[in-house]
Amino acid sequence: MDQAEHLRNIIKMNAQVQRPTARVITVTSGKGGVGKSNVSINLAVQLRRLGQRVIIFDADFGLANIEVMFGAIPKHNLGDLIYQGKNIREIITKGPMDIGFISGGSGIAGLTNLGRDYINYLIQNLAELDMLADVVIIDTGAGISDAVIEFLVASGEVLLVTTPEPTSITDSYSLLKALNRHARYSREMTTIKVIANKVRSPEEGQQLFNKLNAVVSRYLKIPIRYLGYVPEDPQLVRAVMQQTPISIDNPNAKSARAFENLAYTLTNNAGEVTFKKHGMTGFFANMVRGIKSREWQQ
Ligand SMILES: Nc1ncnc2c1ncn2[C@@H]1O[C@H](COP(=O)(O)OP(=O)(O)OP(=O)(O)O)[C@@H](O)[C@H]1O
Ligand SMILES: [Mg+2]
Repeated sequence: MDQAEHLRNIIKMNAQVQRPTARVITVTSGKGGVGKSNVSINLAVQLRRLGQRVIIFDADFGLANIEVMFGAIPKHNLGDLIYQGKNIREIITKGPMDIGFISGGSGIAGLTNLGRDYINYLIQNLAELDMLADVVIIDTGAGISDAVIEFLVASGEVLLVTTPEPTSITDSYSLLKALNRHARYSREMTTIKVIANKVRSPEEGQQLFNKLNAVVSRYLKIPIRYLGYVPEDPQLVRAVMQQTPISIDNPNAKSARAFENLAYTLTNNAGEVTFKKHGMTGFFANMVRGIKSREWQQ
């Protein structure tokens, strides 16, 4: 039995016993520094308020964004699970409101070289996330790397954060172009939802989306949707300095309200996401397929 068949069997077995599956949402952007980590953490807080169990997976290779923003330092990361035999529960750090977070750390870079036994161990552990969380939010690193594209291909739902800066819009386009070129990207399997961040008015958010959508539908012909906007908010900047998510620091701040709306829209659109790619098990199986076919190079 080859690796791919083995993975298919694991997924099939999961489906047969009707195990719960988490909704896997990957937050990304073309350009760095446009608000991905703020979107991830504030959506986590707001989804939590809506009764969802949330785990944030920090898939940034460089700076560990989420831990800085939570003001909590995780004891372990994905590398400890892979190489030190820790289990998934041991590498989840609990942040405010019982939001879990997992630091990818150096573990992500090492995924390319994992042998079959390690991969099986990883899958078994990640599959457990399907039971521990309703939603897993993956915060990706800055820039358009092969690894980030691989994450997007593997997830059923992508939130693309864009700001009105012209470079942010062109970089979003470039990211979608790279995604569209990927051999296993399928427009039916991955929904792309755009968040307009740092806008000065709702109209500016809609215009930003229209601009991006015009070029994407013309040249790439892939469907993207507008999820909504987050206003430019000095209070958010202050909250970041204090290492507290704005949605906790000041739930009435205009950006916190916007995150509340986005979370609400997301949960109300859950029915649309008919394909969950079989939760975290499916997500990781998709990743492994990419790694094994050597498409994934750092
Ligand atoms: N809605 C907003 N209003 C005002 N400032 C914002 C807003 N969103 C983000 N920022 C500013 O942008 C900075 C970067 O945000 P964040 O760290 O979330 O971006 P990122 O995309 O995760 O960055 P990286 O690519 O480095 O991971 C924040 O520290 C904050 O100062
Ligand atoms: Mg970040």
